[in-house]
Formats: sequence, structure tokens, C-alpha cells
Amino acid sequence: MQSLLSANFCDNLRPNMSMITMNLLNQIKEEAKFYFKDAKGSHDWRHTERVFNLCIHIGKEEHANLEVLKIAAILHDIGREYQDKTNGEVCHAEKGALLARELLKKHTIDEKTIDRVIHCVECHRFRGDRIPQSKEAKVLYDADKLDSIGAVGIGRAFLFAGEVGAYLHSVDVDVEKTEPYTKEDTAYREFVVKLRKIKDKMLTEKGRRIAEERHAFMEEFFNRLNKEIDGNI
Ligand SMILES: [Fe+2]
Ligand SMILES: [Fe+2]
Repeated sequence: MQSLLSANFCDNLRPNMSMITMNLLNQIKEEAKFYFKDAKGSHDWRHTERVFNLCIHIGKEEHANLEVLKIAAILHDIGREYQDKTNGEVCHAEKGALLARELLKKHTIDEKTIDRVIHCVECHRFRGDRIPQSKEAKVLYDADKLDSIGAVGIGRAFLFAGEVGAYLHSVDVDVEKTEPYTKEDTAYREFVVKLRKIKDKMLTEKGRRIAEERHAFMEEFFNRLNKEIDGNI
């Protein structure tokens, strides 16, 4: 399965290259991977590969600029380590945008393309006034959020819970009143406070359609989990 994912990622690096050569894209990819050498499973380089592939899938249908989108997808989470090390104090989208600009300036990429990529990176979290404006930023935002739901989203939620030492499931607590990065930061908590709301936040038509389907699967899974925990199944 892992090799299939990587093969897909490599195939998607290839088409539609004109201004940005495949060689340049591969160089950027190798430089980006450096920022994930100590990453945990819930937010590792494989996440970037999946988001990249989703970006191509959605971006083609939305007629986005695939050159901008590919670079943005590769770089979108390079600031993640800084956020994790500070337990959320540093915003990885803002930090990532700074790091991405430094990285891209070392290559022969025109200023306008760099600006378009940076807009995508700094808005992919969509907090406060950083609203995705361009088509490419909207596609990246949707692709990134889609990787948080569905079967992959469930897997990542449990991985993250394991990373912070949380329980398997929330029992006898109001999950809305529990805190992140604690034993109560379970996959179910993540579903209740965040993941179940994602389908209503999509910014593209294609993203919305994929989100509806992934959401239905995820809801079914957590309903079943609740029944099993209660011993009803
Ligand atoms: Fe991110
Ligand atoms: Fe991401």
C-alpha cells in the first residue's frame, strides 16, 4: 500500500509541467522532506503525499493552476514541527509560509508564482482573517481537510490520540469540555469537536462531494464504536 501511495505521488509529479520543471519540483520536494524527518505519524510526510494527490484530483476538476498547487501542496506543512514543539503556540501555516518563501527564493521561480504559493500555504489552516482567496488556496484547503476525515481521518485521529497518550475512547465525560493534549484528547473527542464539522466548511464543489461521502463513513464508524464500548454489539 505504501509503495502504491508513493507511486501515485511520483506519477502526479509528472504531468502539466511547463514553467516549473519536474526536476525543480523534485528538488523542492526533497528540500521539503527535510522538515518531516522527526514528524509523528499523524502529521508526517505521507500526509503531504496524500494532500498532494487530492490536490491534483480536485484541482483538475476545479481548473486550478496545477504548478502553483503542486508546490503549495508539497510545502504546506513544513512549519508543522514548530507548532508541535510549542504545543500549538506557533501557527504552522504562518511559520510554514515564511519557511516556504525562503526555500523558493533560492530557486529560479518568478516572484508572482512564489506569492501565489505563499498565499496557499498561509491560508490552508483558515483561522481568523487568513481566508483562502485564490482557486489554488481553496483546493489546498479542501484537500488538507479531506485528509482529516473518512477512513484516513479516523486512522489519523487514533494515531494522534496515541501520540499524546490519550484513552481509546471518551467515557462518562462531556467531550466538549475536555482539553486538547490531555488523556481525554481521544479520537472521539476529535470527531465531536472538529471532524464532524469539516464537511460544511469545504470551499470547492468537488471537495464538498468527497467530504459528504467521507463524512458518512466516519459517522457510521463512531456510532458503531459507541455501541461496542457500551457492550451493545
Ligand atoms: Fe497544516
Ligand atoms: Fe496538512
